[in-house]
Amino acid sequence: MAGVPREQWTSKRGFVLAAIGSAVGLGNMWRFSYLAAENGGAAFVFLYLLATLVVGLPVLLAELVLGRGSQKSPIQALAHYGGQRWKPLGLLFVVTGLLILSYYAVIAGWAVRYGLAAITSGFDPDAAAHFAEVASGADAFAFHVVFMALTIFVVVGGVSRGIERTSMVLMPLLFALVVGLALYAATLSGASAGYAYYLAPDFSKLLSLNVLKDATGQAFFSLSLGMGALLTFASYLGRDVNLPRAAGIIAGADIAIAFIAGLVVFPLIFALDLSADVGASTVGALFITLPKAFAEMGGVGRGIGILFFAALIVGALTSAISLLEVVVSSAIDNFGWSRRRAGILLGIAITALGAPSAWNTDILGAVDQIANNILLLGGGLALSIFVGWVMAGPIEEVSAGTSGASWFGSWRNLLRYAVPLFLSFVLIYDAIPSTFETILALF
Ligand code: PHE
Repeated sequence: MAGVPREQWTSKRGFVLAAIGSAVGLGNMWRFSYLAAENGGAAFVFLYLLATLVVGLPVLLAELVLGRGSQKSPIQALAHYGGQRWKPLGLLFVVTGLLILSYYAVIAGWAVRYGLAAITSGFDPDAAAHFAEVASGADAFAFHVVFMALTIFVVVGGVSRGIERTSMVLMPLLFALVVGLALYAATLSGASAGYAYYLAPDFSKLLSLNVLKDATGQAFFSLSLGMGALLTFASYLGRDVNLPRAAGIIAGADIAIAFIAGLVVFPLIFALDLSADVGASTVGALFITLPKAFAEMGGVGRGIGILFFAALIVGALTSAISLLEVVVSSAIDNFGWSRRRAGILLGIAITALGAPSAWNTDILGAVDQIANNILLLGGGLALSIFVGWVMAGPIEEVSAGTSGASWFGSWRNLLRYAVPLFLSFVLIYDAIPSTFETILALF
């Protein structure tokens, strides 16, 4: 759209809240808790923290630097610094965004359904049967459509009037809800058993490659890394923003919410002795055990459940917005479409793309694995190589808005050597083979 100036955030705070909104979502509550439960509790939490700090944070900063430096969405940003031949990587980011949003909105649709049902009729005590009934099929698709419509509505509203405004209101609300729920969970009789399970490490799992892969994949998913979401958000920033500081705040908030969500989920599960149910269904863990707990707790449970699903929906919405924004801003920059046209047309396409996931939770699980283990980790690998080796002047760009720091050189060295080595290792030895196994198991 030649001649139309690029949209900008109205305030730094607005940007930071929108970026936290992207990071904090189903990943922190739904994915984090089922992975932690599956992978030895604290052993997983420890590796996840490690992966976030050592690999996630440098890549997060790389995305911010690319976006702010180029003032463009992913495809154009990569071409700006690397020439035409890097465009396919940007295209891959857009495709990853489409794919993740297509199933992410299905899960968010479950949350909408549970939340509404909690208000009108409460929670079904036979939670597993209920989940099996509502998680796939026409109903699941209908709620997926509702959630996508909400997401499209916000994104069509624009960067500052849609995304920023929504995040300014919803993110503080989300914090308050999650902290309040954790305080309540602390009063439950099973709380200490829940904390023990969550926080006492099973050291036999600490050295497993499989746990390391899950922890790294989770770090990327949870920070929204490897597909240009934060890159796109940073492209609406001015040069006066301190990017390393923003990266620290975003990662810190993301870790904090995931951790606090664990303090909500595990006491609830143990208070009602439901730990055996957690392993029953991976993607369904949160949607079976917690509603069961809420149902058994009677009237209080119903109220707590409503608040819990409200938090989940808020987190999911602000993340879905960032996924759609990658796709929409790319269509605006590359085809000259209007925001409205891009949001509506592409939103409808993504809704349709989600149909298989809405009809079959195994397909949903497989798409989740492909997106995380291969696309996000692979995207992160390519990004770190790009900023470490190809992009000119990353250190100047990261310094703008700061008073300079000597560790910026070490940051680039991490991107050049340690991050690519680590990600290649995880991809080759576990992420790629295990994803293929999942795909084969579908047939
Ligand atoms: N970080 C989001 C979450 O934790 C998911 C997401 C992934 C959003 C990738 C944008 C890009 O729910």
